[in-house]
Amino acid sequence: MNRSNDLRPKSLGSGTSTVVTEALGQSEPFLEFQEQLSRVAPINRPVLLIGERGTGKELAAARLHYLSTRWQAPMVALNCAALSPSLIESELFGFEKGAFTGALQRRFGRFESADRGTLFLDEIGSIPMEVQEKILRVVEYNVFERVGSSESIEVDVRIIAATNADLNDLARKNRFKQDLLDRLSFEVLFLPPLRERKEDIALLAAHFAGRMALELGRDEIPVFSDEAIQALEKHPWPGNIRELKNVIERAVYRSDAVTIADIDVHPFHSPYGNLTPPVSIKAPSIETAPADANLWLKQPLKAAVWELKAKMLEAALRKAKYNQKKAARILGLTYHQFRGLYRQYKAGDNSRGST
Ligand SMILES: Nc1ncnc2c1ncn2[C@@H]1O[C@H](COP(=O)(O)OP(=O)(O)OP(=O)(O)O)[C@@H](O)[C@H]1O
Ligand SMILES: [Mg+2]
Repeated sequence: MNRSNDLRPKSLGSGTSTVVTEALGQSEPFLEFQEQLSRVAPINRPVLLIGERGTGKELAAARLHYLSTRWQAPMVALNCAALSPSLIESELFGFEKGAFTGALQRRFGRFESADRGTLFLDEIGSIPMEVQEKILRVVEYNVFERVGSSESIEVDVRIIAATNADLNDLARKNRFKQDLLDRLSFEVLFLPPLRERKEDIALLAAHFAGRMALELGRDEIPVFSDEAIQALEKHPWPGNIRELKNVIERAVYRSDAVTIADIDVHPFHSPYGNLTPPVSIKAPSIETAPADANLWLKQPLKAAVWELKAKMLEAALRKAKYNQKKAARILGLTYHQFRGLYRQYKAGDNSRGST
């Protein structure tokens, strides 16, 4: 069989060349999960990983592969939710030249690429029923046909599937094949959500902060204040470890100090409130309101601008509880610009106004 590289989809890599991020944690639920994972890894059967988004399913799949006897062969992944249902079949099983419009040459699918290795089917709940039928045949008899071909191809592939959907419910609604579910669920591992492993939050935060500081070329490893740790432990983390990683990386990049005190878990909170402008507030128009026009002209432009800046600065500082970084953000200024304005304000210098 011709297995030239250009016909093969990309795998996650193979053998020792791929660096797998180490899964960190010391909490009871995490250690128990890792133990179950290590136990099933060398067993040549499918595994189903179930967990909320960002809990580390992909990381767990990679670990299963590298702890299995297949570790030197490829681990190939397919995110089934990222493809239209019609594409999933040809991605998985490949196609022959001329199988459909646009099939200009034969292409191997993920099953062939993963031969002797592991195929990671992410978001398996998105696979259409007809394709599930074909997957079941590979799981049971190790054979399939490329799209547009009747030649049976034999492969030796271990399937690891992941989902955050309720597959039993989908099966009840006839949207997932019960037979396939039975075969894939040789072992079902549940990834603990971050809120159930609060003891790991400080550890993970320190890890992500250290990596971010390194990336930013900082000299010192950041640490978190007690209040920051409390804020981290209080948050429910619906996006789990991915969300924590983002929050920590943002906190590190925003902080100039080594001790991080500010944790912003909601970057979308607008300092300007609701995004729809209130209809009742209108800027006075000089043409339609001659009385207002005199109000606008009661002092020289420079003095009026300065007064406005001083008032806005005071209001922003009050709103930010005198945290200057937050105040800068409220005003839409960089911290540097804010400091410039603040210095002028402190000096009572109203003759400048370049900020
Ligand atoms: N225990 C852990 N230690 C360190 N990093 C982790 C751990 N678990 C997950 N991560 C990191 O968190 C992020 C999300 O993990 P991953 O992509 O494996 O989650 P997922 O469950 O597949 O998410 P989704 O359902 O959204 O696809 C990745 O950057 C991963 O490296
Ligand atoms: Mg994933």
